[in-house]
Amino acid sequence: MSSQPSSSSAAQQPPRIVVLGSLNMDIVLRVPQAPSAGETLLGRSIAHIPGGKGANQAVSCAREGGRVSMIGCVGNDAHGLALRTALTQDGIDTAALRTDGAEPTGTALILVEDSGQNRIVMIPGANAKVEIDEAALRQQLQGAAFLVAQFETPMHQVARALTVAHDAGCKVLLNPSPVQPIAEPLWPRIDTLVVNEIEAQALCGQAADSPQEAALAGQALRAKGVRRVVVTLGARGAVAVDANGARHHSAPKVQAIDTTAAGDTFLGALAVALGEGQSFDDAVRLGIRAAALCIQRPGAQPSIPQRSAVLQSPMPPDWTAL
Ligand code: RIB
Repeated sequence: MSSQPSSSSAAQQPPRIVVLGSLNMDIVLRVPQAPSAGETLLGRSIAHIPGGKGANQAVSCAREGGRVSMIGCVGNDAHGLALRTALTQDGIDTAALRTDGAEPTGTALILVEDSGQNRIVMIPGANAKVEIDEAALRQQLQGAAFLVAQFETPMHQVARALTVAHDAGCKVLLNPSPVQPIAEPLWPRIDTLVVNEIEAQALCGQAADSPQEAALAGQALRAKGVRRVVVTLGARGAVAVDANGARHHSAPKVQAIDTTAAGDTFLGALAVALGEGQSFDDAVRLGIRAAALCIQRPGAQPSIPQRSAVLQSPMPPDWTAL
């Protein structure tokens, strides 16, 4: 029920992906479990690790073999420099990454429990200063397979970018996280929407906790004008929904160390695979395998695997139609 990419598609130029999004320095506290209100708790460790949904997704695209440009904004400080350097080391074009003189680089405080589960508070800082240069974006999107965006940069700037991409004939892959309402005219500008169960419910008002519910939620989201939807379900894999119906793809069973950036890793693998011309279902399966590797390593960007490692990882069982 699934197939590997053909040798002709593998011989093509790697897809170009433009990522608009956030860059954060993650301050990661490892704790036995999240403290209750009023409780003081001894943590296990603290680390500063490059993150931010936009930057993580850009890194995932690059490690999957995509040619990636990043649009974003960092502060004029040591964190900003470290985040810019991290992207450069992955071969990502940072020409459209601005440095703002007034705001500090974005920060995320992340508590990671022994179970691998995380809780994140993000302070946008310079991410709030992202501004779309429409003419420059139009040029960047020429020949690009996707514009990728999330919601950690200002909504009105994301909306402008989606409109520019749509008018330029470039497909949009949107991960509306942290979730916010999406204005009606924007829905048909989205080619592929990637949401987790919480985001799916927030956007369509229907529960998406089981594969069956996720399929119905995905159909409700498609009815708003999106071409296809992926509802990610953590350890239970993901549900892919398009005009042909809904399929549940399960995930390999692995021991989670830290789930941070699992969704970003999934999205990068999905974007590159789709850009290569792989089928929707094969792209979803590749994303699930990449995310399964990500959660077995700590941190955001250091845990994002290369394509070669993903291809060596176990194949999940075939999908089931819902
Ligand atoms: O998706 C994970 C990311 O969310 C973290 O790297 C953190 O920066 C927050 O933006």
